[in-house]
Amino acid sequence: MHNLAVLISGNGSNLQAILDAVDNGDLPDARVALVVSNRKDAYGMQRAFKHGVPVVYFPKLPYTNANRPRADYDADLARIVQGFGVEWVVQAGWMHIFTDAFIRHFPNRIVNLHPALPGMFPGAHAIEEAYAAYQRGEIDHTGVMVHLVPDEAVDAGPVVAQMEIPILPEDSLEDLEKRIHAAEHTLLISALRNLITH
Ligand code: GAR
Repeated sequence: MHNLAVLISGNGSNLQAILDAVDNGDLPDARVALVVSNRKDAYGMQRAFKHGVPVVYFPKLPYTNANRPRADYDADLARIVQGFGVEWVVQAGWMHIFTDAFIRHFPNRIVNLHPALPGMFPGAHAIEEAYAAYQRGEIDHTGVMVHLVPDEAVDAGPVVAQMEIPILPEDSLEDLEKRIHAAEHTLLISALRNLITH
């Protein structure tokens, strides 16, 4: 059995896609062993509770002074995640950049989902930035990608899967967001299936 930890900071619709895929047999021999949230109000925690999955709420606040730097947060969280026998760490809307203090414990086993194509719009506002770039005539499509996290670079690393998403003249930002999220929910599952079964 492959144990996944899913790390979230918000809505958790991609966590839901993973939970559903496990239930439907679309992620064979995998289970969500643990959900981690760094935000108390992340709706994804409710999704995990409903599914009976262990949830760890692990806020950054206690670590935000000089005596307890970010690397301590990362090292402590790595220990917790390891305690659940986790093989794959899935960053599904996880708004925290890990230092090597976390990454070194899961070499080639951290997966990040990002709502843009490789090298485009890193950070927390990729969809808005792509939409604005389209309005300026700079791009005619955007995309989604799943990649491994080998180091501290933001939304960058060896690409596991990517998909182009067209932007249409009549698209509102909300339309584009919906299309991107729907694509993420399928791309993430197929990427995880490939990673886990190879
Ligand atoms: C997703 O669109 C994901 O790609 C993005 O956060 C959203 C989380 O949605 N991640 C990033 O922007 C990473 N830089 P969800 O909470 O509904 O799964």
